Amino acid sequence: MTDDGENGKRRRTNRVGHGERGTAPELRPFTVTEDIREARTLPALVYSDPGVFELQRERVFARSWQLVGDTDQVKVPGQVRPATFLEGILPEPLLLTRDAGDCLHCLSNVCTHRGTLVCEGEGVLPQLRCRYHGRRFALDGRFVSMPEFDGARDFPTPADDLAHVPFGTWGKLAFAALDPGLPFDDYIAPVRERCGWMPLGEAVLDPARSRHYHVRANWALYCDNYLEGFHIPYVHASLAGALDYAAYRTELFPWSNLQVGVARGGEDAFDLPPGSPDRGQAVAAYYFWLYPNLMLNVYPWGISVNVVKPLAVDETRIAFLSYVWDPSRLDRGAGAGLDRVEREDESVVESVQKGVRSRVYERGRYSPSREQGVHHFHRLLARAMNGEG
Ligand code: FES
Ligand SMILES: [Fe+2]
Repeated sequence: MTDDGENGKRRRTNRVGHGERGTAPELRPFTVTEDIREARTLPALVYSDPGVFELQRERVFARSWQLVGDTDQVKVPGQVRPATFLEGILPEPLLLTRDAGDCLHCLSNVCTHRGTLVCEGEGVLPQLRCRYHGRRFALDGRFVSMPEFDGARDFPTPADDLAHVPFGTWGKLAFAALDPGLPFDDYIAPVRERCGWMPLGEAVLDPARSRHYHVRANWALYCDNYLEGFHIPYVHASLAGALDYAAYRTELFPWSNLQVGVARGGEDAFDLPPGSPDRGQAVAAYYFWLYPNLMLNVYPWGISVNVVKPLAVDETRIAFLSYVWDPSRLDRGAGAGLDRVEREDESVVESVQKGVRSRVYERGRYSPSREQGVHHFHRLLARAMNGEG
């Protein structure tokens, strides 16, 4: 036990204070040993301390890429659509637009005059006009005009334009960042490489198969649970029947990881093209997790997107969005019965939330063969919380 011994010691001295507000600074640095065989999991306080939650807002989420919509929402030139960076912990108002030249933009939706939301509903517009005092902007964010400003000196300047927010797309999915800790291309590269051959342009959001879940647990506990298939035979009897547990595996990338679910028996699987590294295997699902809070579950029928939205230290909202490209393959194999699987996960994660508030439990250990994804996430999270990511 090397570096994570220190956290353990510090936490022990904090024990009586467990549950007190603002204990986070004494916990730093957060350390999770690189060798999974020796490492201990993140301290329980990471999941229950409001001070840690505040720290994560700045060090994790303000630097992250977030899903903010899809390109079908701004399909035609002139179309505009308000978006929120990350509901709950970081609800920065954003605006997706498609200008007359068919170019997509992700802008700040805050008027540069006195801060009103510029656009409060979707629509097709020639220009944006703030309803408070009439400032106008082009759909690419440029300041156009402002009443009653004739005597104003050094006006307008570029500061009067709506700010552009870093933006990227994969298939139809649109992502934004406020102060990105890594380039979008690096963030999405492993998904692009593995799934680039799929009919991404044909995927259509199916509202009937999309919903939100409210989970009374910390957002990172939800991710921890997602990042291992270890619990499948114990928690998901129905899913266990569709997946070959022995063949289930995890691959790690710098900012994401992938769990490959292999079909059991004749269950539905991808028709993998030549060049796929998995060709010859009956892959039923690719479960991508992208730091810190996005899951792309790719099935033969399409993609189930899960966005984990932290609302409070012990409260999380999960958006499930189904993008379907082959409806004939819905309700088969690993991609069937997702609602049941979700409820099973929720109930176990809520149980863990009660456990991490314990004065007795401190931190645990990892299964070297089954919890590589959890260990990887904890290493990235610890690094970011320490201000190193
Ligand atoms: S706040 Fe927008 S014009 Fe005044
Ligand atoms: Fe699960």
